[in-house]
Amino acid sequence: MKTLSAAVIGLLWTTSSLAAPAAPAADPDTRAATTLAQMTPAERTVLTQGVMALPVLPPPGGMPAGAIPGAGFVAGLPRLGVPALTESDASLGVAYVFGLRHDGATALPSGMAMASTWNPDLIQAGGAMIASEASAKGFNVLLAGGADLMRDPRNGRAFEYLGEDPLLTGVLAGAAITGIQSAHVISTAKHFALNDQETARHFVDVKISDAAARESDLLAFEIAIERGRPGSIMCAYNQVGGHYACDSDYLLNQVLKRDWGYKGFVMSDWGAVPAVSAALDGLDQQSGAQLDPKVFLAQPLADAAAADPKYAARLTDMNRRILRSIYAVGLDTNPPARHAIDFAADGKVAQAVAEEGIVLLRNQDGALPITAQAKRILVVGGYADTGVISGGGSSQVEGLGGPAAIVPLGGSGPFAGITGEAYQRSNPLAAIRALAPAAQVRFRDGRYISDAVLATRDADVVIVFATQGMTEGLDVPDLSLPRGQDALITALAAANPHTVVVLETGGPVAMPWLDNTAAVLEAWYPGARGGPAIANVLFGQVDPSGRLPGTFPSSVDQLPRPELPGAATVEPNFEGRGQGGQALVADYDIEGSDVGYRWFARMGRPPLFPFGFGLSYTTFDQGDLRLAAGKVITASFTVADTGPRDGADVAQLYLVDAAGKAERRLVGFQKVALKAGERRAVSLTIDPRLLADWTGAGWTVRPGTYRFALGASATDLGPAVSVDVKGEKLKP
Ligand code: BGC
Repeated sequence: MKTLSAAVIGLLWTTSSLAAPAAPAADPDTRAATTLAQMTPAERTVLTQGVMALPVLPPPGGMPAGAIPGAGFVAGLPRLGVPALTESDASLGVAYVFGLRHDGATALPSGMAMASTWNPDLIQAGGAMIASEASAKGFNVLLAGGADLMRDPRNGRAFEYLGEDPLLTGVLAGAAITGIQSAHVISTAKHFALNDQETARHFVDVKISDAAARESDLLAFEIAIERGRPGSIMCAYNQVGGHYACDSDYLLNQVLKRDWGYKGFVMSDWGAVPAVSAALDGLDQQSGAQLDPKVFLAQPLADAAAADPKYAARLTDMNRRILRSIYAVGLDTNPPARHAIDFAADGKVAQAVAEEGIVLLRNQDGALPITAQAKRILVVGGYADTGVISGGGSSQVEGLGGPAAIVPLGGSGPFAGITGEAYQRSNPLAAIRALAPAAQVRFRDGRYISDAVLATRDADVVIVFATQGMTEGLDVPDLSLPRGQDALITALAAANPHTVVVLETGGPVAMPWLDNTAAVLEAWYPGARGGPAIANVLFGQVDPSGRLPGTFPSSVDQLPRPELPGAATVEPNFEGRGQGGQALVADYDIEGSDVGYRWFARMGRPPLFPFGFGLSYTTFDQGDLRLAAGKVITASFTVADTGPRDGADVAQLYLVDAAGKAERRLVGFQKVALKAGERRAVSLTIDPRLLADWTGAGWTVRPGTYRFALGASATDLGPAVSVDVKGEKLKP
């Protein structure tokens, strides 16, 4: 028998189908103009405002007709065949909105895991998988495409993003968006821009020069938008240069719409609109309006448009943009198609991402893969007998059957419900047992160090799991593993030299115990099939091919801001809500565009593990680098598997010198799957913006000699090869 909520969801889904027939194909601009011409004044503020679609919320919100429980709902215009926008969070899978929908979805691994694959095709497949599940549930807009850079490893949302490099982030976010939109579901790119910490996210003011922003965080979005052509951009909560991102003429009008020629629409983050004037500054749609002080982009906007031609022009433009994206992605002609979800097939996509995203950080004397010689295996900690951890907040995905366990993080208010440490139902202990049928595999939960240490005594291998919960709304204070897990690992590694550490962390952590361990795997938040993915890497069914998308510092003292802005003054009560009025500046001009590894290179600081780093069970050789300058520079080189096993290498090409100025910038990458002994030729072109400086009105590539090197990481570089460049000016 159907549960009540499932029946309600089914009913609502049916009513959301369109009455009007599909319009004949024409280009989206023409179609938008045609529809716009038919809209009445009252219809012009329908698409400009949305609500949170949660049955638990009071009006004006709750569940309007046609809504599905999800992050948001924007009514459509059935008379004109314009579909309602049914929105779900979806960076890592179709999110579960405060646990209100229990219809299950496939959780991809975290953004950091996705980025560690360095594999755009796989990330695109992940996006398509999410969109197909979303469509099956009746959604046609996904709040996905997280592309903020990891300026600080303590960022509570680092796990949702794709690391610290603009090229890697841009390419992968673009791939995810492409995958989503291939299923006729609009994707956002978010949170535009410089939303790089959660502490005080509702009022922190980011200070950064235009040039530094364009060369770093904005470049990541620029690349993602060019490649993915998202129907919408979600502006962020924070301020930039004294203006809220959703009310920022600089970000929305000048950078996004003027310089990048963006044709889609800007939707606000939920509760990020300060005033109706945001419409003039480039905001096109107010989302989750019940979280703002007022529904600004409804009657107040209509009133402003009646009185002021500037608002009237914007109102027309807002509708044109929203309609254009609906038509460009084909929402009206391809409405969500309800179908049963093939969780087995979708789980394979999640597992493939997890397996390619796991990074082998240390492997002393070939401790891994674990062989059949290991007869007594001890598994400790990390709820490895239960599941794998996921990140908290709006991106959290509830798998079939719900979470295996939730460890609450405390806090109060609505947010507390989605910030807990939820464990996906994918059990690493069971997966290890399945791959070691002849071994005795024991488990200790690790709550008491003495108990776990005692159990190591006769173990051939100790596998200790450690988890670091991260959540939207809350940064982590430092790089330690919480709840005494560093002490646990230290004790186990001292007691048994064959101790292998499996980290399930949101981002980089410090490893005070590193030198005493046999091996370390960074498995991130590995998603719906994390258990088997981890076991497959531990036992060598899969060769680890993940590479770090962000620097692991050895301590916070190495960071541009050893003290996180606001950490001392803002109460850690989930996002600093209600604590506005404090002036808090995050000074990103300290590092400028030298984010992550570029900062470490500039300061000559040796990290614990560098950007791009990751070991394999086989060995690789990269060489024969040749550069040819033409309209763009082409790099060609070879990559070989020189070891005994098949594997996959990630060729990374770095700029190391730009016309006499020492640099460290990733300018190209390619993941290459190789058979043992195979050598392959690779060539790639270099985006000139990666060689350029932003100089006021555009990019300047200075004339001179440019030097590049292939790298196994940002600090392990091969010989540099030079090429002479004429120099050029490029439009934004
Ligand atoms: C988050 C967004 C999310 C929105 C809707 C906000 O709190 O910052 O990423 O899309 O909620 O759930």
